[in-house]
Amino acid sequence: MDHSLTGTLRMPARVHFGYGTRAQIPQLLALHGTRVLAVVDPFLTSTAIFMELLSQLEAAGLTVQVHSDITPELPVATLDAAGDVARAFQPDAILAVGGGSALDAAKLIALLAAHGGPLSSYYGENAVPGPVVPIVAVPTTAGTGSEVTPVAVVSDPDRELKVGISSPYLVPVAAVVDPEFTLGAPASVTAFSGIDALVHLVESYTATSLTLDWSATAPVFTGRNLFSELIALNGIERLGRWLPIAVAEPAHRRAHEEVAFAAMLGGMSFGPTGTHLSHALQYPIGAITKTPHGLGTGLMLPYVMDAIRVDDDVTDRLGAVGSALGSDATSAQGRADDAISAVVELNRAIGVPPSLAAIGIDAAQLPQIAELGLASGRLVGIAPLPVTRDVLLDILTRAHEGTLTERIMA
Ligand SMILES: NC(=O)c1ccc[n+]([C@@H]2O[C@H](COP(=O)([O-])OP(=O)(O)OC[C@H]3O[C@@H](n4cnc5c(N)ncnc54)[C@H](O)[C@@H]3O)[C@@H](O)[C@H]2O)c1
Ligand SMILES: [Fe+2]
Repeated sequence: MDHSLTGTLRMPARVHFGYGTRAQIPQLLALHGTRVLAVVDPFLTSTAIFMELLSQLEAAGLTVQVHSDITPELPVATLDAAGDVARAFQPDAILAVGGGSALDAAKLIALLAAHGGPLSSYYGENAVPGPVVPIVAVPTTAGTGSEVTPVAVVSDPDRELKVGISSPYLVPVAAVVDPEFTLGAPASVTAFSGIDALVHLVESYTATSLTLDWSATAPVFTGRNLFSELIALNGIERLGRWLPIAVAEPAHRRAHEEVAFAAMLGGMSFGPTGTHLSHALQYPIGAITKTPHGLGTGLMLPYVMDAIRVDDDVTDRLGAVGSALGSDATSAQGRADDAISAVVELNRAIGVPPSLAAIGIDAAQLPQIAELGLASGRLVGIAPLPVTRDVLLDILTRAHEGTLTERIMA
């Protein structure tokens, strides 16, 4: 057991959180020049809040071109084409406003504008050759934390699964998290993005220690990380209390504020640390069922928590998660049990389906999902236990049957 303390923190140079902080956006962009490419989630383009933002940008003397042609799942060809538009416009800065998909699109357009394509040449970790066009990121979902992370995820028809491009150069220069943008979102958007934030927090808090060679290029994802440990439990506590209220009440200002803050903490926590098995398994589950990212990660999380309880250290960590979710059990074991029950109950309350069978997965597909999950070597390597195909198959089998839901809801 390695007891040394290590941590890596990568963060935008400026982060503003809170209602009203969107008024900072023009100043943050103007730090980099006058030409702004705004990559905007299509749902937003005709809204009053976006019109108001656009007029503020113009009043600040910025020349703005809006790109809102963002295709769900981000097929790589659509981004390569957007990259050509961006290179022609030569932006000084990119404003990214939208859900995680739009923020990821903006990161990749910033990459293409600076270094050219094709995007496939940057797949994986640390393949981006240098700084990208500066990005000011403004999330409209409370979920991915993409506004502070070094990752963007795309789909490529040549690959079975979505692929990540991860590099410290993709961390935006500034993040503005104004919960006003999340008000009024459909319950399913709030639920699935919010539960994904919980998965980011729990998985980064339970990551294993990796042995790092500090004389080489640092990995994008470092595994267990002191900074994440400071952040994660705070976010978990807020989500446990406020996510069900935010889902039930789209106009509840306090609930949406709390969830937005927790989701940003999720990005800060997992950005340098990484996530593990719920994410490794969601990629194939999402590819087969075409269900949202957070639906799959949220569904898998209690089963992953149950499977990683292999030693006292993980049990203590899950116990701390249990305390953050309201457990007052006297033993770590009891608090870890309560953590799993609390996530099952939270999933039920916000409408995450109870089993893989309920989202149309056939038992015969589980071995293939396990194989594909295992192939996400980076994610699997961050889990706090040795992972084999059988470990994943066992997790999947129980999630397929919904055994925890049955036991806990009985
Ligand atoms: N880069 C990262 O660090 C990171 C982390 C986790 C997930 N992801 C990726 O992010 C994507 C998921 O992002 P997401 O959960 O934010 O969903 P999303 O961006 O796919 O948005 C879901 C839907 O909600 C709409 N929407 C967004 N904000 C809204 C609002 N305020 N009101 C009404 N509608 C709104 C969008 O137009 C879209 O139709 C996945 O592709 C996933 O792979 C990235
Ligand atoms: Fe996620």
